[in-house]
Amino acid sequence: MSDIITLAIESSCDETACAITRNGREVLANIISTQIEIHKKFGGVVPEVASRKHIENIDLVVQEALDTAGMTFSDIDHIAVTHGPGLVGALLVGLSYAKALAFTLGIPLVGVNHIEGHLSANYIEHKDLKPPFITLIVSGGHTHLVEVKDYGSYEILGKTKDDASGEAFDKVSRAMGLGYPGGPIVDRLAKQGNPGAIDFPRACIHDDGYDFSFSGLKSSVLNYLNSMKMKNIDIVPEDVCASFQAAVVDVLTNKAIKACMDKGYKTITLSGGVASNSGLRSQMADLCHKACLDLKYPPLVLCTDNAAMIACAGYYRYLAGKRDSMDLNAVPNLKIDQV
Ligand code: KG4
Ligand code: ZN
Repeated sequence: MSDIITLAIESSCDETACAITRNGREVLANIISTQIEIHKKFGGVVPEVASRKHIENIDLVVQEALDTAGMTFSDIDHIAVTHGPGLVGALLVGLSYAKALAFTLGIPLVGVNHIEGHLSANYIEHKDLKPPFITLIVSGGHTHLVEVKDYGSYEILGKTKDDASGEAFDKVSRAMGLGYPGGPIVDRLAKQGNPGAIDFPRACIHDDGYDFSFSGLKSSVLNYLNSMKMKNIDIVPEDVCASFQAAVVDVLTNKAIKACMDKGYKTITLSGGVASNSGLRSQMADLCHKACLDLKYPPLVLCTDNAAMIACAGYYRYLAGKRDSMDLNAVPNLKIDQV
């Protein structure tokens, strides 16, 4: 079989990204233009600003991907594009661009679910990884525990009932005046703090199911900060970060390992921006080792938003014969088990 070259576009949040892969798992170009510096001053992503920046960046990012891969449009076999979930205005920029490319070049268009993209990042890094396995997808917008039965076949075992885990990191960081995005900052400070200093709640940890809840934890951190302020007591930011992170990590690791054991699988993968968290990685590694489970996660650049993961997911959809037409729409709340 001849090689399949995929060009993928991702614009669901604040990264304008384009990647080119060979046979889904070999990355020839992975260009990411991040808008973090622009949104930082607002303390979070401003949707309207994100859409405008995507429009300004997308041509440059696509051209840079082609240059990096040493290719022209005539080398591309199909286009893959994120069409949800995400910010609708931001998604529409990438989607419209992808449709125009596919139409002009006369090649197939394949829509990709962003969450499916995140979990597919592991296929790029771990060449021998094959379904079935359990995956924990933890990002700014999502916290999902999913049974990957086959390529493109998913069952959601659990998800967050309220805030996503990354969102909790971002909100706690904001409340402490530490900056955006909060995850990497909290992670760094947590390394110097005492995780047992403050006893924050671990919601749902003893429930039978696999759902998560982080809004109570977030409120508990905010209450702690307020009460210390009222009492004129200085907080130790490192201890707050370490104690908060420990609460998030305890719940995530506990549920993921439980799901893997209950379902009889041997492999757990992590993905999404929060999969960069050093506490999560090391606690998962420890517990997986003890339970004789195999743990896999992508390198940092493939944890946060990128288009290589979309190309990989798009490639498997393409192989399965999935094609989308020019009326493919952006779906802000697209579910992974609807793919
Ligand atoms: O996957 P991603 O780039 O975007 C979404 O699809 O949401 O994830 C971004 C999220 C942000 O909430 C950010 O704070 C979090 O990932 N994040 C981290 C770390 N690095 C990024 N959270 C905890 N620890 C980190 N090291
Ligand atoms: Zn994402």
